[in-house]
Amino acid sequence: MELPFAESYKIKMVETIRKSTPEERQNWIKEAKYNLFRLKSEQVFIDLLTDSGTGAMSDKQWAEMMLGDESYAGASSYYKMKEAISEITGFEHFLPTHQGRAAENVLFSVLVKEGNIVPGNSHFDTTKGHIEFRKAFAVDCTIDEAFDTQFIHPFKGNVDLQKLDDVLKKYSGQVPFIIMTLTNNSAGGQPVSMENLRMVRQIADKYGKIVIFDSARFAENAYFIKQREEKFRNVSIREIARKMFSYADVMTMSSKKDAIVNIGGFIGMRDKELFRQCSVFNIMFEGYITYGGLAGRDMNAIAQGLFEGTEFDCLETRIKQVEYLGNRLIEFGIPVQLPIGGHAVFVDAKRFLPNLKKEEFQAQTLAVQLYIESGVRGVEIGALLADRDPVTRENRYPKLEFLRLAIPRRVYTNNHMDVVAVALKNVFDRRNQFTKGLKIVHEAPINRHFTVELDLA
Ligand code: F0G
Repeated sequence: MELPFAESYKIKMVETIRKSTPEERQNWIKEAKYNLFRLKSEQVFIDLLTDSGTGAMSDKQWAEMMLGDESYAGASSYYKMKEAISEITGFEHFLPTHQGRAAENVLFSVLVKEGNIVPGNSHFDTTKGHIEFRKAFAVDCTIDEAFDTQFIHPFKGNVDLQKLDDVLKKYSGQVPFIIMTLTNNSAGGQPVSMENLRMVRQIADKYGKIVIFDSARFAENAYFIKQREEKFRNVSIREIARKMFSYADVMTMSSKKDAIVNIGGFIGMRDKELFRQCSVFNIMFEGYITYGGLAGRDMNAIAQGLFEGTEFDCLETRIKQVEYLGNRLIEFGIPVQLPIGGHAVFVDAKRFLPNLKKEEFQAQTLAVQLYIESGVRGVEIGALLADRDPVTRENRYPKLEFLRLAIPRRVYTNNHMDVVAVALKNVFDRRNQFTKGLKIVHEAPINRHFTVELDLA
């Protein structure tokens, strides 16, 4: 008999989580203005809000924390992180930042000007925010297949090469760079193929453009390349990652994902002059260039985490857990983005709650119902997150309305996943009872989903 699959780690430390009653949760979510970001964490039983900064560090990472060098300048921790980045990504120059969006802020302060056009594959919301904040425009060139959740395609994160070429042909003078998000978070944690990255590089070279990788989940992307691109079946994750990065000029990284730390980020670069220009902004926004908003211990933990996060067994354990939850939901007939992504299961809220108008925020309504049912916290990746159009100020309704169930690395067991699956099934069984959604009471001008206040419509 074939042995079943099991996690590639055992547990050394645990943290208590608390259950609550549906009545308590009804009150708490009302007090939180129907925004799950506004809940206190102790009001949550299983927290699938994000996989960012919520992972469990290993014994070796905690040991590295104790070895952190807290010198203001030239800390050994900086050099440890530099070596890890250079070995895993091939980037020679790097700047530490306190997280991924800080890397975007520093880099875009150099590269993005008013009126610029930035094409890519579904820019993450902070990336888009940093582009639009500078009065520039993000153009999503993701393949059309990504927008049909029931269509199976191995690389739904890919950019449509024709769309990309068209943007560059039309606006070449206004395009500072192409940005590829690995994996494509907004489209469902979907990977980008090596072939697609290679072709993006070719198009960039044709027009003389820089290519940036938003690399938050680059290791998960490499895992999918190994699984799904025949040529790479026998190639190691680290070799695949090096090959991926060989097609980029610059990378931004939120280390809170695939480097499995609670805080941190960086920019990786090849060009010395770009490094010099970014250093000016890094010092202004983040800190001196050898710590960039991080403690020495954080940099040590990132260096160790980059190695662990690119181990095959670690990735297999992680991605199989996400798949496990996805498959349970599929068994219950719940519509999800197919195939299941790397860091989360994305529930198709438009199909789940077809009786609800898009103006009443289907995915957010579903997130609230799941929370009341079970204390499970997911997150809306839909119209709230999409913000208003920066020019017309009209609400933007994206093609996909998702409830994202993001799974922290090395934190929950599959028993927790079973609770999530059954809770969502219970909501699914009652789906015809939901005829009213939510309305906005107060919102911020940009990145509104974090603080938005809602009420029953
Ligand atoms: N890029 C991608 C693809 C991301 O998913 C994130 C964060 C960032 C950049 C920004 O990094 O949070 O370190 O500043 N994503 C989190 C999420 C917040 O829940 O998906 P950060």
